[in-house]
Amino acid sequence: MKFLAPSLLLYLSCLLDEFPIAQAIRLPLRARMGGFGDGGLARRASLTGTPDLTNQGNMQYQTNITLNGQAFQVLVDTGSSDLYVVGSVNGAKDTGKTGSVTYAIGSTKGPIKTATVEFEGFKVADQVFIEQPADSTHSAGAGIVGLGPGGASNIQEIIASSAGDPILDRIFRQNTSTPNYITILLGRADDPTDTFPGDLTIGEVVSPFNNITSQPKLPVTQMSNRNGQHWTAMLDKNGIIGPDGNRMNTTKHATGNKLTVMFDSGFTFPQVSKNIANQIYGRVPGAIFTNVTGGTAPMWTLPCSTELNVTFIFANVSIPIHPLDTVTSALEGPPDDTGAPTCVGAFQPITTDIEGFDIILGMSFLRNAYMLINFGDFVDGALTKVGDPYIQLLPLTDPQEGHSDFVKIRMDGIDKSADLHLLPALPNNGEDGKNDKTQEDTLHKYLPYIIAGSIAAGVVILALIVVASYRSSAKRRYRRLHDPAPAGLPSHATNGAPSQDYQPTRRY
Ligand SMILES: *[C@@H]1O[C@H](CO)[C@@H](O)[C@H](O)[C@H]1NC(C)=O
Ligand SMILES: *[C@@H]1O[C@H](CO)[C@@H](O)[C@H](O)[C@H]1NC(C)=O
Ligand SMILES: *[C@@H]1O[C@H](CO)[C@@H](O)[C@H](O)[C@H]1NC(C)=O
Ligand SMILES: *[C@@H]1O[C@H](CO)[C@@H](O)[C@H](O)[C@H]1NC(C)=O
Ligand SMILES: *[C@@H]1O[C@H](CO)[C@@H](O)[C@H](O)[C@H]1NC(C)=O
Ligand SMILES: *[C@@H]1O[C@H](CO)[C@@H](O)[C@H](O)[C@H]1NC(C)=O
Ligand SMILES: *[C@@H]1O[C@H](CO)[C@@H](O)[C@H](O)[C@H]1NC(C)=O
Repeated sequence: MKFLAPSLLLYLSCLLDEFPIAQAIRLPLRARMGGFGDGGLARRASLTGTPDLTNQGNMQYQTNITLNGQAFQVLVDTGSSDLYVVGSVNGAKDTGKTGSVTYAIGSTKGPIKTATVEFEGFKVADQVFIEQPADSTHSAGAGIVGLGPGGASNIQEIIASSAGDPILDRIFRQNTSTPNYITILLGRADDPTDTFPGDLTIGEVVSPFNNITSQPKLPVTQMSNRNGQHWTAMLDKNGIIGPDGNRMNTTKHATGNKLTVMFDSGFTFPQVSKNIANQIYGRVPGAIFTNVTGGTAPMWTLPCSTELNVTFIFANVSIPIHPLDTVTSALEGPPDDTGAPTCVGAFQPITTDIEGFDIILGMSFLRNAYMLINFGDFVDGALTKVGDPYIQLLPLTDPQEGHSDFVKIRMDGIDKSADLHLLPALPNNGEDGKNDKTQEDTLHKYLPYIIAGSIAAGVVILALIVVASYRSSAKRRYRRLHDPAPAGLPSHATNGAPSQDYQPTRRY
């Protein structure tokens, strides 16, 4: 088992213990069917309708789901592929098997049962799920719905037949006229102008953003081991514009490779390389790379009034990041010289090696891009070949509006952005060290240990804290990890199911 940031994980787990999900405050609501499509950037403020997602303090996004008619509020997680709910589901049938998933933060373990699940207007009979008993870290009525590729499902691996497929595979197979894509729109809790909480759709787009279907299609980078498949795509060469307005050198040493990005709606803070985090935050006067109270993984901390403009570029489409997302008040750094609290750089340096991708773009990124994930042939048992899976992103943040929001919220209404004088650039020699591998090298080197799962949901919930103090802790999730057996060898002992390599002929 490997964790991306074990220390933070532990810290957050403690917080989780103290502040169960049930206590977290829910920020209100959201909307679909806005009916305001003026092309280009649609304004989210105009969205009206019934929201599908609840945003808990920008830390996690949840949706309602029912099992045998019983309601659960589950985290929406593109980084994992299994459904679990906490508590007992009336009338659920026991498969006699036990399932478990380890997330970036937290884990679940319990009997694998089946029930009739209603999700986003779809009804699926005999859907498998893990029934997690309530305990100090699992609040009754909570759970996670994994929206990742079915190949990464732990339950599917244990059940070892299409009966064990994740809910989206079941829906796409059952409702054949429903296009096999999902879309996710995440709102920003502290945004003064756009207040909708978020939306999740299956097979349809949110109405003001229909344009997303004409955005460039980013091919999902396919892993040679299907257990390790995630929703990943390539960032453009040097595809990040830093606060100085210049593109960073994100070229991988020696190979000249582009970076592979994983999109994870269950991961609060994006994980980038140390180099990229340095280029974003390291040139701000007063920025310190330090341990943050309560957490042991060092992070960049800086004055909360620091407005940093960062843009990610995918297929020549620029996705500006709202400055409220770049420097977050969700975690508190040590006080500065004047005793004022500091904020934290949300794009954190990855602390541990990960295989198969270089960057995890979680909620702080996804609030800035409406995302469509087309599953293509990644649907178990699909009768017809429909093509390769791809991802589309539609930019949501208008830099001017982001600027005025930031001035209002963090600068007390007085535009001091001209006072920011970045320090000279740090040496930027592209991506070094651990990232200095081609994906193939990485896969080969780590094949026996490749992560099977996903980065799952980890959310943690410090929403309570956040709400209580308006600046509190963070959470992030961790990827679940399990160690599949090397190709051709019996799989590890936990479940006895054969380890299936990703097979191009069985796309999913
Ligand atoms: C969105 O659609 C409108 C009208 O259909 C079009 O004018 C506009 O260029 C589109 N924008 C993008 C980013 O595709
Ligand atoms: C989910 O259900 C809870 C409890 O009924 C409700 O308060 C909440 O608004 C619902 N969330 C969404 C997104 O519909
Ligand atoms: C899905 O398909 C079933 C029948 O297979 C149908 O009853 C149901 O209305 C469909 N649901 C949606 C949301 O299309
Ligand atoms: C960017 O980084 C790569 C890899 O380290 C290096 O080969 C290249 O010279 C760098 N480019 C610039 C313009 O510094
Ligand atoms: C953070 O704390 C750890 C453990 O106390 C220490 O080893 C490390 O040097 C600290 N890092 C920074 C950047 O202060
Ligand atoms: C991006 O733009 C460049 C220059 O116009 C072009 O050569 C390249 O093919 C474009 N890339 C994509 C993915 O559209
Ligand atoms: C960030 O971008 C906005 C919009 O382009 C601009 O008004 C603002 O001055 C920029 N801020 C900084 C610190 O670069």
